Amino acid sequence: MPEFADGQEAGRYSFVVVACRLPVDRVAGPGGEMEWRASPGGLVTALEPVMRKAGGAWIGWQGSAGEAPEPFDTSGMRLVPVGLSPDEVRTFYEGFCNATLWPLYHDVIAPPEFHRSWWEAYVAINRRFAEAAAAQAAPDATVWVHDYQLQLVPGMIRAQRPDVRIGFFNHIPFPGYEIFAQLPWRRQIVAGLLGADLLGFQRQQDAANFLRACRRGARLATRGSHVQVPADPASPGSAVRDVRAAAFPISIDTAGFGELARREDVLARAAEIRDALGKPQVMLLGVDRLDYTKGILHRLRAYGELLKEGRLGPPEAVLVLVASPSRERVEHYRVLRDEVEVAVGRMNGDYGELGSAPVHYLHQSYPREEMAALYVAADVMLVTALRDGMNLVAKEYVACRHDETGALVLSEFTGTADELSSAFLINPHDIEGMKDAIMRAVTVPPAEARRRMRAMRRRVAENDVAHWAATFLDALEHAPGRIRQADAPDG
Ligand code: F6P
Repeated sequence: MPEFADGQEAGRYSFVVVACRLPVDRVAGPGGEMEWRASPGGLVTALEPVMRKAGGAWIGWQGSAGEAPEPFDTSGMRLVPVGLSPDEVRTFYEGFCNATLWPLYHDVIAPPEFHRSWWEAYVAINRRFAEAAAAQAAPDATVWVHDYQLQLVPGMIRAQRPDVRIGFFNHIPFPGYEIFAQLPWRRQIVAGLLGADLLGFQRQQDAANFLRACRRGARLATRGSHVQVPADPASPGSAVRDVRAAAFPISIDTAGFGELARREDVLARAAEIRDALGKPQVMLLGVDRLDYTKGILHRLRAYGELLKEGRLGPPEAVLVLVASPSRERVEHYRVLRDEVEVAVGRMNGDYGELGSAPVHYLHQSYPREEMAALYVAADVMLVTALRDGMNLVAKEYVACRHDETGALVLSEFTGTADELSSAFLINPHDIEGMKDAIMRAVTVPPAEARRRMRAMRRRVAENDVAHWAATFLDALEHAPGRIRQADAPDG
């Protein structure tokens, strides 16, 4: 009989996903009433079959302040909303998650803020998610916790439900120890994560950074990709639990994007986009959340210099810049929006003509169909992130290029660069190098473009999001997770 903490009863679901967000949108139903509908993101596409088969529940926040709606069933899974008050949105989501952890984990591109009240909110909200997960999980269930917003959840679930198997996947980078060490609560974060049986990271380097935080910060012994965690943290003796930390690079719904990019209406829309831009010879495209990690200003600087030097410019070449609204109440995001809009306005003022602008800037979010049409239309895709856990936009572009044309300019500071090494790789801080790479991508001979695109398409076809999820869940099933005597550590 599995053990539970006092008063705890087992729930019904043998597979439980815990993520900051629920995979739903609020849409008008047939009779005009508002209802929740599953949103077609990559993660939910990958997990839906597992959810249906195993009887799955997904615990998450619906994305706006207020009381949690009642749990409901959709697309074969149970959705269990977790509510956040307006103050908790400010201190937990905008504060600790996106003004402390986000900049810290992205190499302090913006300075992180450390506030004790935000940390208290992080602990309280993580506990709320953990309690919801513990209540839904059936005896011996598998629980998969996602991302930096919920790093304490694995430890909190383990304390209540030692019978369940716990996986954690970090979607963003895990920083080097010198940076991570700035966090006043680094010890608690490492301890929270180590409640899992398996910790997944995007790149080998992220897993290595975490293992180093275990050694340096928590003084724990590691062997290869395994950490030895005292089985009873209250009395560290010789019995240990093995926790594995390894890389599982996430991917996209490759077939889904591929199908979209073959659809007649999407192809027609792609042609319409090029017409609307004045039928340029070269359409460059950037697609990001409006986030300072994405290197949008660096990209604009490089493009602006190419305009100034007359190496690119309208009407032959145009840049479409889709920057979708994100975290708009967080100060760094507000400042960035102003800076991007000033830069775009200046460039269009300086180099535009009546009826032709060098930059088409869209501060909007689009459905997948429109994104696929943009990917089909674009000759050169620019991904210039200063730091990015993976960068799925780069993979989506590749998945849409059936005819093996098109070129990808890709920052080497994205997880994607580890996989798509046939892209035109750049260091976005090196403006001269980025300009040259853009020009090489614009003028690449067709045979070379095809060779590069074919290699990238092969990789994105092999590792799609379903493969990623299956690989992670298989590793979780086989994670050691048992309590035994300690081994001699590495080094
Ligand atoms: O992993 C980064 C991430 O949290 C994604 O899960 C998400 O799509 C993106 O950032 C945007 O995050 P937010 O939930 O803050 O809008």
